[in-house]
Amino acid sequence: MYVPRNPGLPPRALFTPPGGMSGALDCAGLLLFSKARMGIRYALSALGIGLGETVLAPAYLTGSALAPFDWAGVVCALYDVDRTTLAPDWGSVAGVQTRVKARALLLVHYFGLPCDGGIARAFCREHGLALIEDCAHALPPAPGEVGPGALGDAAIFSLRKLLPLPDGGALRLGSGTGAPACLPPRSDSPVSLAPLLARYVAQRLGMHRPSRAARPPLPVPDTRPEEPAVGISRWSRWLLSCLDAKAARRTRRENYRLLMQRVAGIPGLLPLFPELPDGACPQVLPVLVPAAEQVADSLAAMGVGAYRWPTLPPRCARASETARWLAGRLLALPVHQGLDPVHLEYTADCLERVLHAR
Ligand SMILES: Cc1ncc(COP(=O)(O)O)c(C=O)c1O
Repeated sequence: MYVPRNPGLPPRALFTPPGGMSGALDCAGLLLFSKARMGIRYALSALGIGLGETVLAPAYLTGSALAPFDWAGVVCALYDVDRTTLAPDWGSVAGVQTRVKARALLLVHYFGLPCDGGIARAFCREHGLALIEDCAHALPPAPGEVGPGALGDAAIFSLRKLLPLPDGGALRLGSGTGAPACLPPRSDSPVSLAPLLARYVAQRLGMHRPSRAARPPLPVPDTRPEEPAVGISRWSRWLLSCLDAKAARRTRRENYRLLMQRVAGIPGLLPLFPELPDGACPQVLPVLVPAAEQVADSLAAMGVGAYRWPTLPPRCARASETARWLAGRLLALPVHQGLDPVHLEYTADCLERVLHAR
């Protein structure tokens, strides 16, 4: 059995006439980039935040989300999140803001599970901050749907994390923020679809790569080289009109609930979000386990693409004990639209075996 971390591309999607999918993602009002980090960089310019200014950002974060602030010369003042809800620790946010007088607050909706944007909005109003919603783990809500990304002065999404696309990030700017320009698309060839199709076939055949040998951890860089902004590739743009994002959202929700029921009672495992809020399109099911890295390695050997998140940049690790604590324990379990109940059952069985053996 193979339970990939992300969905493969079903070949039938290639035979769907563009625009023939009623559940396709509504991209109206979105500026499409190759990656979400480029959208963050663009949002900073659109909000007039630049060199030497400061943004409040959670210490529990990945390097690819911090990079665009570095590229713009913007300082990230790191605040803590709550260990059990991953919501901002508002005491920590207020304390940091008193020290640094930031221009904006970065609010992350981890794993597509929305945190309370209302509280964030009120905090930003009180302190004169712009609100940037990081919805990299969520799909943009369709008109009439609720979900993260509706309240911010800017909201970014990483479409390629939820849909089988070779690339894709998106930015929604709040009303009153300058209208975005059109970007040249990333150049690509149909070869960029091959890994996505191969993943689909491998899953169908139950073939997974032999697990990698345990390796010493690589040093994580604190900064990343600048990536100039490019638009989404033509292949991804085309696939966006052929893929059923509505059905993906529905299946992810069903899979989340099914897997939650199955893993909730496993000794040694603590689900972070037992309830799935209305409108949430989960990227994964996040759970806390002891030694998440080793558990993820054991699961990989069994063909289950669970992973520890994130690889914490050194500055985040230095800044926050909570971020270190979470990064060592959080395990992301796949619940994507390419999985059937049998894959979820297998994931839960493997997890039970691995945790029982520890
Ligand atoms: C919370 C968060 N924000 C932003 C990003 C950047 O997304 P992208 O890789 O599409 O640039 C990531 C990527 O992992 C992320 O996890």
